Amino acid sequence: MEEQTVVLIVGAGPAGLATAACLTQLSIPYLIVEREDCSASLWRNRAYDRLKLHLAKEFCELPHMSYPADAPAYIPKDQFVKYLDNYIERFDIRPKCQTAIESCSYDEGRKCWFSVARDMTTSVVVRYTAKFLVVASGENSAENIPVITALHGFAGEAIHSSRYKSGASYSGKNVLVVGCGNSGMEIAYDLASHGANTSIVIRSPVHVVTKEIIRLGMTLVQHVPVNVVDGLLVRLSNFVFGDLSKHGIVRPKLGPLLLEAKTGRSAVIDVGTISLIKNGTIKVLGNISKIEGNTVEFEGRKESTFDAIVFATGYKSTANTWLKNGESMLNDDGLPKQEFPNHWKGANGLYCAWLVLPSMPRISPVASCLATMHKHDGPDKMN
Ligand SMILES: Cc1cc2nc3c(=O)[nH]c(=O)nc-3n(C[C@H](O)[C@H](O)[C@H](O)COP(=O)(O)OP(=O)(O)OC[C@H]3O[C@@H](n4cnc5c(N)ncnc54)[C@H](O)[C@@H]3O)c2cc1C
Ligand SMILES: *[C@@H]1O[C@H](CO)[C@@H](O)[C@H](O)[C@H]1NC(C)=O
Ligand SMILES: *[C@@H]1O[C@H](CO)[C@@H](O)[C@H](O)[C@H]1NC(C)=O
Ligand SMILES: *[C@@H]1O[C@H](CO)[C@@H](O)[C@H](O)[C@H]1NC(C)=O
Repeated sequence: MEEQTVVLIVGAGPAGLATAACLTQLSIPYLIVEREDCSASLWRNRAYDRLKLHLAKEFCELPHMSYPADAPAYIPKDQFVKYLDNYIERFDIRPKCQTAIESCSYDEGRKCWFSVARDMTTSVVVRYTAKFLVVASGENSAENIPVITALHGFAGEAIHSSRYKSGASYSGKNVLVVGCGNSGMEIAYDLASHGANTSIVIRSPVHVVTKEIIRLGMTLVQHVPVNVVDGLLVRLSNFVFGDLSKHGIVRPKLGPLLLEAKTGRSAVIDVGTISLIKNGTIKVLGNISKIEGNTVEFEGRKESTFDAIVFATGYKSTANTWLKNGESMLNDDGLPKQEFPNHWKGANGLYCAWLVLPSMPRISPVASCLATMHKHDGPDKMN
């Protein structure tokens, strides 16, 4: 079976949906394919219960549709999913679900992208030909779990954060959270609030801020140089939290906004974890050196026993496994080669749209990405 279209969008997360809506507004024909059985599967199936958008709503709106006026500043997960469902209905987006792209390559002769996809229900192969290819498969495509000696020998339950829902079932248990990004810090808080004896492994420097501080920073950076804003954010955060180094939390040398722009590592927005770390409710531990049965050994020979480990160690892009001829746009990790705002365009009609990028400022990156795409010689110019 072979289908032809003008634009093929790979992935029906928020970024793919936003791309679809923008193309609809411009009357450009497209097809959108999604490997899972629903759109926005990350938000529907792979996010914990208490999750809210980390950024204030004005920074997380998709193009052409606002949140309801009475929506809270920080949108809870379920409300975000409802917003996406309304968005899908408003723009009549019909993702072809359970269709996983297995390869895309550019044909120089015919000047178009050939894609091979598999229908996950029937295993039938479907082929697509498109003039333009939009990679919207995101940077959260696969779980990233570090290689740790004898993790497989761990006698307790080990899960990735994408499968964690709530601390309710961990009450009274000894739980170790590995990773101190937004997910790890919030999951540790959730576990402790549900009465789990909670410890967290913090392996590298991290910026901790409040949501108000980051909101201020994202607003200011539109008018003030980023290093000046960063300096202010660090001073405000130090004022709020004090020196956290004695609790094992050290600030990176680069400021929070620059660090994110350069490395993609975002600041942690505290949800209450820090005060629990300060008063010893949540214990901070260093790198894991060994796991044996239920016992985990940390560098410096300290050891403790745990019933469960939650790996909040992030995700990987999988775009490189299927995208051939993508060198113009993606690096070896399947992430955009160029820093924001030049990340979105590759050669031969190849585009990248995803919501969270090492972008700065992160104001509706999809919207700005698409706005740029349309201003320049994007899909709209081709008919
Ligand atoms: C716990 C958590 C909290 C977050 N909170 C925020 C937040 O508050 N604010 C914020 O801005 N960002 C947040 N993020 C970042 C997150 O990446 C984005 O919010 C958002 O979901 C990214 O949208 P996306 O469309 O780029 O990618 P995704 O939502 O990951 O969507 C990509 C889609 O592509 C599909 N896909 C992948 N490969 C293929 C293939 N080969 N064939 C077909 N389909 C494929 C996937 O199944 C997926 O549905 C959070 C992330 C996590 C994990
Ligand atoms: C933990 O290990 C990483 C590399 O695996 C290293 O960069 C880091 O400094 C270590 N952290 C501590 C606290 O020892
Ligand atoms: C630590 O602080 C939290 C919230 O501030 C409080 O609920 C808890 O009882 C405190 N625990 C200890 C051991 O002081
Ligand atoms: C709680 O966890 C810490 C750190 O792992 C451990 O030292 C302590 O013994 C645990 N407390 C209980 C009551 O199990």
